[in-house]
Amino acid sequence: GEGIVVSDLAQKMAVKVREVIKSLMKMGEMVREGDIIDQTTAALVIEEFGHNFIAVSDTQLEDDLQEAATEKQGNVQTRPPVVTIMGHVDHGKTSLLDKIRETKVASGEAGGITQHIGAYHVGTDRGVITFLDTPGHAAFTAMRSRGAQATDIVVIVVAADDGVMPQTEEAIDHARAAGTPIIIAMNKMDKDTTDPERVLNELSVKEIITDAWGGDTSLVKVSAKTGMGIDELLETISIQAEIMELTAPVDGAAQGVVIESRLDKGRGAVASLLVKKGTLKQGDLVLAGEFYGKVRAMTDENGERIKSAGPSIPVEILGLPDAPMAGSEFLVVSDEKKAREVADFRIARERERLLERQNKMRLENMFANM
Ligand code: GTP
Ligand code: MG
Repeated sequence: GEGIVVSDLAQKMAVKVREVIKSLMKMGEMVREGDIIDQTTAALVIEEFGHNFIAVSDTQLEDDLQEAATEKQGNVQTRPPVVTIMGHVDHGKTSLLDKIRETKVASGEAGGITQHIGAYHVGTDRGVITFLDTPGHAAFTAMRSRGAQATDIVVIVVAADDGVMPQTEEAIDHARAAGTPIIIAMNKMDKDTTDPERVLNELSVKEIITDAWGGDTSLVKVSAKTGMGIDELLETISIQAEIMELTAPVDGAAQGVVIESRLDKGRGAVASLLVKKGTLKQGDLVLAGEFYGKVRAMTDENGERIKSAGPSIPVEILGLPDAPMAGSEFLVVSDEKKAREVADFRIARERERLLERQNKMRLENMFANM
């Protein structure tokens, strides 16, 4: 049968390539991450990692769909950066997100009501910036664990009067593991108990050498309270984005990631999506995680009805039959039959995984009680 590249297998299972190679070594297979292994061997590895073996015909289904979606995409253009704010508890993540939004979204914009959709975008002199406004590591990690790299840049907030704390370090580690550039926002600069030099020092211990010390990590002094430094922070983000040369195809079927979803009593499933490629339009047939449905209505973060959304733009949609998990990928499909097949397959796979986990727990409990 067909083979699979070791690194692809690792990615599909959301485990480190190193671990896969180790497991193969135990089976007596000496391979490198670029090598191709046969299906039987891959099945053994998958079993070892506790996943069910998914036959090629099923993954083929997903690949076909993906290919069909990608086919029509084109017109590659610069896209806005997607930014996540992380940092220690109480260092001002929420305040900063609120202040940026408040500063940049013109008040009373066309009668819009500010909604929480898990992300928002602002216009600056240097272009649009999108913020994921579910701050914290949970959201970031949830997305990453599903293989959905939604964030381009991580802003780490460090309170100037408190310094580098455990969750600051964690944020640095997360960003590094994801290979995402870091910008430091030294917050609460309005306070008279700040100690910037100490913060720089503590950051250097984590091998974050800021530009103030001749290093290559940008640091901006801000106050989420007074608004000081906010424009500079946005400019720094834009400069970082320009260096990264972020692009995406604008035309064609949309693809992206679910940032949040919930079941609303009156409106049914409400899902916040971040478009990564292509353009999402009202009426599109969306497959998100295990569910698919036609986009019945689409709104932006100001509650405004919109008809389409391009790369890096967050939207809220109605029309899915149920709430897909945050971090799931979504895809616009033209073939309803294929969408149903893939959705059914995913539901079955989830069910199997759940059963397997339950069995495993039952076994573990049995042994623990012996
Ligand atoms: P968690 O969500 O609990 O992790 O906290 P957070 O990082 O979102 O911090 P939050 O924005 O809730 O701010 C924590 C406290 O610090 C609040 O009382 C804010 O008013 C205060 N605060 C945030 N930014 C500033 C600032 O720039 N200056 C001053 N003086 N206080 C600030
Ligand atoms: Mg908060």
